[in-house]
Amino acid sequence: MSSILQLQEILETAIKNLKFPENPKQLYDPITYIINLGGKRIRPLLVLMSAELFSKNPNDAIHAAMAVEVFHNFTLVHDDIMDNAPLRRGKATVHEKWSTNTAILSGDVMMVEANKNLAKVNPVYLKDVLDTFNATAQGVCEGQQLDMEFENRDDVSIEEYINMIRLKTAVLLAGALKLGAIIAEASEKDADLIYQFGENIGIAFQLQDDILDVYADPEKFGKQVGGDIIANKKTFLLLKAFELAETENLQSLQTWTGYQEFDAKEKVEAIKQVYDVLDIQNIAKETLDNYLNKALSYMAQINATNEAKANILDLTKQLMARQY
Ligand code: IPE
Ligand code: IPE
Ligand code: MG
Ligand code: MG
Ligand code: MG
Repeated sequence: MSSILQLQEILETAIKNLKFPENPKQLYDPITYIINLGGKRIRPLLVLMSAELFSKNPNDAIHAAMAVEVFHNFTLVHDDIMDNAPLRRGKATVHEKWSTNTAILSGDVMMVEANKNLAKVNPVYLKDVLDTFNATAQGVCEGQQLDMEFENRDDVSIEEYINMIRLKTAVLLAGALKLGAIIAEASEKDADLIYQFGENIGIAFQLQDDILDVYADPEKFGKQVGGDIIANKKTFLLLKAFELAETENLQSLQTWTGYQEFDAKEKVEAIKQVYDVLDIQNIAKETLDNYLNKALSYMAQINATNEAKANILDLTKQLMARQY
C-alpha cells in the first residue's frame, strides 16, 4: 500500500506535467493560475486511493485523476462567477483577476482539457469511465442550477437542500471513487458501494463547507467568510435557523434576508448571532455525523481488507476536521 503522502507526490508530479497551449495567453493563463494555487486535491486522491483499494497500481489511474481535478477546477472558476466570490485559495478569483468573459471561456476550455486527459485512459475501460464522468459532470450542473434557484426561494426544504448538495458536490467525490474502481476492475457491487460511500462523505463534506463558510478563520479559509450569508444561500444552517427561530430571531432572519441593499459585515454578524443563539453549528455537525456514519456502513460492506481501506478512511477523517 502507498502512503497518503506518496499518493500526493504522484499527483503533484502529474499536475506539474499537465501541459496547456500558450496562446491566446488570456485563455490559458487562468488555467495554470487556478490549478497552481493548489487546493487539497481530494478528488484525484480519491481516484488513486480507490484504484489501490481494489488492488490496482494507483499510477494506472493517474489520467482519470487528472481529468477529475481539471474538471473540479473548472467548476470552481464558474462557481466563483455565479457566487460573486472575490477569493479562492487565498488569492483573487479568475473573474476578478481577468474578467467574467475570460473566466467563462477559460472554464469552457478546461472542460475540454479534462476530456483530453480522459482520452488517455486505457481503452478497455474508456466506455465505463466516460459514462461515469459524464453522469457526474451533468449532476454537478444540475446541482449548481438548483443552488442558484434556491437563492431566490424562501420555501426550500432540508430534503431539497440535501438533494442539491448531493448533485453539486457529492456526486463528484462519488464519481472519483467509482472511476478508480472501474479502472481497478472492481466488481459491480463494490463499485456501487464505493459510489454510495462517496455520496455520503460528499454530503458531509458540503455540510462542513457550509459550516466553514460562517465559522472558519479567514486567514486559513482562503475564501470570503460569510459569502453564503451575503448571497442568501440556502445552506443547512440558514434553513435550520428558519425552522427553529421564533419571535425576534425569526424577525431578524426575515429582515436581513429580505434586504436588497445592506452592509455585508452587519448582515453576516446579525445572521451569525441567530445561528449562535439556536446552536445551529452543533445541529449541522450532528447531521454531518449521520452522513459520515452512513458512509462508513457502506464502506464496511466492501469486499477488501481493513488495511486496504485505511487510506480512504484516514482521508475521510481529515476532511471532516479540516479548517479550509
Ligand atoms: C470546493 O472544494 C468546492 C466544494 C465542493 C465545497 P474543495 O474544498 O475541495 O476545494 P479545493 O480544491 O481544496 O480548493
Ligand atoms: C461548490 O459549492 C459546488 C461547486 C463548485 C460545484 P460552493 O459554492 O459552496 O463552493 P465554494 O464554497 O465556493 O468552494
Ligand atoms: Mg462558491
Ligand atoms: Mg456555489
Ligand atoms: Mg461553500
